[in-house]
Amino acid sequence: AIRGQFFDIAKVGASPEALKANARHLDDGLLFLNGGTIAALLPWEEGRGLLRHETDYLDSRDKLILPGFVDTHLHYPQTEMIGAYGEQLLEWLETYTFPVESQYQCRDHAARMSAFFLSQLLSNGTTTALVFGTVHPQSVDALFSAAEHVGMRMIAGKVMMDRNAPEYLTETPEQSYRQTRELILRWHKRGRLNYALTPRFAPTSSPELLAAVQKLREEFPDTWVHTHLSENSSEVDWVKALWPEHASYLGVYHHYNLTGKRSVFAHGIHLQECEWDCLHETDSSLAFCPTSNLFLGSGLFNLKQCQHKQVRMGIGTDVGAGTTFNMLQTLAEAYKVAQLQSYRLSACEAFYHATLGGAHALDLDGKIGNFQTGKEADFVILDPVVTPLQKLRYASSRDIYEKLFILMTLGDDRNIWQTWIDGKCAWQRDALEVAA
Ligand code: GUN
Ligand code: FE
Repeated sequence: AIRGQFFDIAKVGASPEALKANARHLDDGLLFLNGGTIAALLPWEEGRGLLRHETDYLDSRDKLILPGFVDTHLHYPQTEMIGAYGEQLLEWLETYTFPVESQYQCRDHAARMSAFFLSQLLSNGTTTALVFGTVHPQSVDALFSAAEHVGMRMIAGKVMMDRNAPEYLTETPEQSYRQTRELILRWHKRGRLNYALTPRFAPTSSPELLAAVQKLREEFPDTWVHTHLSENSSEVDWVKALWPEHASYLGVYHHYNLTGKRSVFAHGIHLQECEWDCLHETDSSLAFCPTSNLFLGSGLFNLKQCQHKQVRMGIGTDVGAGTTFNMLQTLAEAYKVAQLQSYRLSACEAFYHATLGGAHALDLDGKIGNFQTGKEADFVILDPVVTPLQKLRYASSRDIYEKLFILMTLGDDRNIWQTWIDGKCAWQRDALEVAA
């Protein structure tokens, strides 16, 4: 068992009021595990009688324990290009992204970077992610192998693209179909791994390629769909020019039946009203990626509209357009994006989006996202005070919401103490690492 301070949200909800009503905070709680699942989370006084010995627990009373963070959109091959200077989306792709992604043809490079990528997720408290590979099937083999080794719940897929990209990164629709199909048969539903059909975005897809994606989704209806949507104004104009017969950007994907539950669209910054309605009606999800949207100058995600239209939404770091793997820093930027639009993102809502809300956006809320009995035991143990400034501010905070808000405003990877996957500690901060 683990003893400490716990916070989670019991139920999926739409309004900030409902989330707060379903929030659970245990100042002194006891978490019981049954192998890789949650057996129970109880207040100390209730749980202590269930201990075999009075001292039979891991004492983390100075720590805050949260469900593991869920990152609903990022690119593992872009880890090595974070902080590429000076460009917005389309030039950024041409100048920096495509050359970097060409390296994932090499299995050894893909394996090395997969290991590095997973260690970045774990050291930032992220226990589940929806991940882009490159066009090379071996990029996805390497990532899934590494995730399987850790026991992580992960969804990933090979990029599918057949136009408007360098020749060394494009394929034919037939090739894309065949290689994707082989990967699905190899990895989908193997342990905690799941496959996402991953057309890069409409501009790099021909009608034949999207038809191939549609065919795969019909053949494998329980796979995910993962792509980009309406991120940047020039991109939106380009989609209009490439696909003149469709009324909107989302309309292109919708035409090929790629909307729906388990379809996750990154960004959605410049959406028309009809696209919001389509997202809602099809039960599709958006990934809000604040650090990426600010870094590439893409625009401000409309949280208020997302809530009003009742569209599923999770938080994504979108590494390498995003500038951090860290969910606390990502939430801080989400707060500022909301501020610029006069929306007040509470700590309760922010941490919901990073945990149960993200799980809901990935249709995984039956398995992960909080400490409900029977769920998978993926969680993060945070040290809320690792700097003099945090100590000062934490001491004067009145309740859990102020503590959480300070954590997301001042926190970073130094606050991640341990990350637990499948009931086991998968990563622990070296005490010297913080001191150094
Ligand atoms: N749109 C198409 N490809 C990409 C990508 O790699 N990153 C981002 N941020 N947007 C994209
Ligand atoms: Fe992206």
